[in-house]
This record gives sequence, structure tokens and C-alpha cells, in this order.
Amino acid sequence: MFGRSKLKSWNKLDSLYGRFKKTQMKDLFAADEKRAEKYTIQFENLLLDYSKNRIDDKIMAALFDLARERDVSGRIKAMFSGEKINKTENRAVLHVALRHQENTPIYVDGRDVMPKIREVLGRIKDFSEAVRLGKFTGYTGKKLTNIVNIGIGGSDLGPCMATEALRPYWAKDIKCYFISNIDGTACAEVLHKVDPETTLFIVASKTFTTIETLTNARTCRKWLVDALGEHAVSKHFIALSTNKSEVEKFGINPDNMFEFWDFVGGRYSMWSAIGMIIAIAVGYENFERMLQGANAMDKHFATADLEHNIPVILALLGIWYNNFYGIHRYCVIPYDQYLKYLPSYLQQLDMESNGKSVSLDNKPVNYATGPALFGGAGTDVQHSFFQLLHQGTEIVPVDFIIPAISHNEIGNHQQILISNVLAQSEALMHGKTVAEAVLELEKSGKSKEEVEALKKYKSFSGNRPSNTIVVKKLDPYTLGMLVAMYEHKVYVQGVIWNINSFDQFGVELGKKLALNILPEIEGTAFGVEHDSSTTSLINYIKKIRK
Ligand code: F6P
Repeated sequence: MFGRSKLKSWNKLDSLYGRFKKTQMKDLFAADEKRAEKYTIQFENLLLDYSKNRIDDKIMAALFDLARERDVSGRIKAMFSGEKINKTENRAVLHVALRHQENTPIYVDGRDVMPKIREVLGRIKDFSEAVRLGKFTGYTGKKLTNIVNIGIGGSDLGPCMATEALRPYWAKDIKCYFISNIDGTACAEVLHKVDPETTLFIVASKTFTTIETLTNARTCRKWLVDALGEHAVSKHFIALSTNKSEVEKFGINPDNMFEFWDFVGGRYSMWSAIGMIIAIAVGYENFERMLQGANAMDKHFATADLEHNIPVILALLGIWYNNFYGIHRYCVIPYDQYLKYLPSYLQQLDMESNGKSVSLDNKPVNYATGPALFGGAGTDVQHSFFQLLHQGTEIVPVDFIIPAISHNEIGNHQQILISNVLAQSEALMHGKTVAEAVLELEKSGKSKEEVEALKKYKSFSGNRPSNTIVVKKLDPYTLGMLVAMYEHKVYVQGVIWNINSFDQFGVELGKKLALNILPEIEGTAFGVEHDSSTTSLINYIKKIRK
């Protein structure tokens, strides 16, 4: 497909960058009092202000041309219509079908997938309600109040993030736990806290072959059987998977299995049966509200023109920095304690999807693809890595997310939180000139020498970009919108980079190599050939473990 030079819009952006790179955002604000209005877009209760970016109308127009030249609209249609856009695995990509609300069919290989999706949603509803009402009990008849999700990657991060995000909606007597890491500590720390009679284990694995999940599930199964006997398993274990035969092999009754399908990628699966723990924690109605919120964003994404399409705008801004400014990192800061796991969730969504270097035409790419993403909840992270955001040599574009209303309106906490997020984006954009720093130091009574010594340290270059996303309140519907917005943003970037955002062969390599080394660590294989570093590390650790 395209080297950079083959796209007209790309070349245009290259030359715009040359002319624009030194432009200061604060000058753009000063020159146009309507700038904020012009670069703000609202969809339902979600508002995106992207005016604090290094853009102007010409740049935005060229970015939209790039989206047109890459046929973003056509690719959106392809995804929604069930085309096999996951080329390397020959699969459709239909997480949007999981939250489809209309009574219309969605076809994969000529078959409508909606009846099956609705059937499983119905089963999730029945089962989650039965657990919440104490109708489906543990083996000894006690209510299941400890819900443990065993899964990793997409089978953990989505459910964990969403369950935490919706904590205010949890049933009062239910506690949720997540075991993902193979480190025995993850299992041990949860099993210390729960009682076998009241614990439901949800084994969540798309493939049901992931070593971490199966090992953790076996450990939990043994713990349960030791306490209550083999017969208790069917009352305390359910499986969420696409792989019925592996579920059976593991010893979970297929009646206790909730299915999903290979057109649902792991990192796009919290809307499927993988969301079971969310439904149990917050109730099916709230789970459904989350699906409806996502569906609203899907419809916006599928129907709004490019210029008024929130995921498209976010994607293009990311491309502008990544491919023209050469900024290959990006930060998401939710100013909401309940969204503290959102950055980890987005790390998988974004970096597993777009961390690719071979194009869909089977050629190495000669341009940057997915950036490194990090983040954390504000204001906490203001006191960890924000120093670098403000004064470091690396520019990091930021997405700030803030609900106007908190679930916990205590005193003036929310007002302080809001003041902080707005102050951060303002400071990043505006900076502080040396002259401003001097004035401030003088006002604070510093001597001439002190002012001279401190003025450079106290100045900020500014011109650092950010988006601000304001939602009314973090309810299930809004969470659904927010997550779907990022899913679609990632897809649009993948389309522009001409990569497949839906495979993850890089991660699978690590999984295989670990299986090769395991017998050596366990002492059942010897003399396997590795590089000298790996061999000596294996030997050193084995010696200590003896
Ligand atoms: O991390 C790689 C990966 O394949 C992810 O894509 C997936 O979410 C995770 O492993 C877990 O896989 P599974 O749900 O099949 O256990």
C-alpha cells in the first residue's frame, strides 16, 4: 500500500507540519476567540474538547482527507457488515454485534449471529440474577457472595476495569476478585480472603488453553475440592469460552459454560459472556445499559460524517502527533477513582491492537504505528509522572477524562478534582515564559540573585497537547460509550496505518517460548539450546531453588 509519499494528504500534512511545528497554541487561542467552540464536539452526554491540540483548520482538513484517502468510511462499513477484516486469522470482527440493539440481522458467512448472541445474553441474565437472588447457590446451599474471575489479558482487564468503574452499582452483599497472574501470590491472596461455601469461580478464557488461567483455575479447583469434595465443582465453577471441548476436558459441565465466538477478539470481549462478573456485580439491567451506551457510540461512529465523528477525530489527532511530530507515546488520565484501571485496559486495547510492523499487504511498514500508552488516575499521577509531562524533553499528548458529577459528592472534593484537571490541561498548553516566571518570583519577594538563579527552572515551555473528555456522571451507559469510543479510535488508526488491529502474534510467541523453558525449570528437560544469557539464568535460578 502506501509509502508516505504515495498519499496526497500525507504529503500535504508533511508540508503543513513543516510550517506549523513552531506555532504556539496559546497564540492560536489569542487569535481566535471561537477556537474552543470550533474544536469541541458533543455526543449525548460526552463532550470532547480538542482545542488544546497543535492544529488549525488546514491541518484538520488534511487529516480528514487522509481518512478519506484511506477509505475510513468504507472500512467502518466493512467491520459493521461482518466482513472478515481480521485478515491474518480470516475472521470477522463483530464486538459491535454483542451490543446491537435493533432487531436486524448481522451476518457472518451468510449466517445471522444475532439469535445466538441474544440467547447467551438471556443466559447471562438468568444466571446473574439467580446468583444475586440466591437462587443459584453453592454446594452447601449458601448464597454465592464471593465472585472470583480467573482470566488474563482481555479475559481479565475489561471485566476488571468495568466492574471497578461501576462499583457504586454493586449489590451490597457481593464482593468481586480477579486472579490473572500466574504468580502464585495472585491465587493465594484471593483464596485467603474467601470461603469455599460462598465462592463462585468464573474461568474466563477465549481459547481455554492459556497456561496462566488454566493453572490458576486448577489451583482454585483443588482448593474447593479439598474443602467441599468433587461434587461441589458444578455449583462453584462456570466457564466463559469459545472452546467447548477444552472446557469439558478441564472438567466444567457444558451446562455451566457461557459461549462466545471467534469474531470477538479477547480485548474486545467484555461485552460478551466475558462480562459475566460485571452482570453479577451490578445486575443485568446495568450490564445492558453498558451495552446500550456502547451501541449509541457504535451508531455515532457508523453514521456521523468524518468531521463530526468523535473516534475518528481522536484517531486523527493521534496520527498527527505519531507520524508527523514523531511523538510515539500517549497518556490517558481519568480524573475518577473508579476509572483507575482504564489505562491498563487501554494499554491492551491500543498496544496489542496496533503494535504491528507488517502491513495488510504483507510488507514491513516504513512509518510509525501504535504509540506506547500509559496513564493512571488523577490527581494521584500528578504527583508521580506529571513533572515529565510539564517540563521533560519528551512531549506526551494526554487525554483527560472527567465526570462533572461524582458518585461521592463529599464536601468540595469534586470541585477540587475538576479544578485540578482543568488546571493541568491549561498549564500544559499555556506553559510559563521566563518573563512570567521572573514576575512571579519578584512578586514572592525573591532577591535579584534568587530570581536569576531560579527563573529557568520555574518556566515551562507549554504548547503540550491534550484532549479533555467530560461526561456527566460515570454510569453504566456512559462507561459503555467511553470504552466503545476508544475501541473505534484504535480501529481507525489501524485502518490509516494499513495494519491488522485484530491479531496478536507477538504475544503468542512469548506464550510458546515459556512452554519450552518450563520443563527445564521443572527439571524434566536438560541441555536445550538457548543463547548464553538465557542458559545461565536458567541454571542460576535452578541452583537457588534447590
Ligand atoms: O495476551 C494475549 C492474549 O491472546 C490476549 O489477546 C487475550 O486477551 C489473552 O491472551 C487471554 O487469552 P484467553 O482469553 O484465550 O485465555
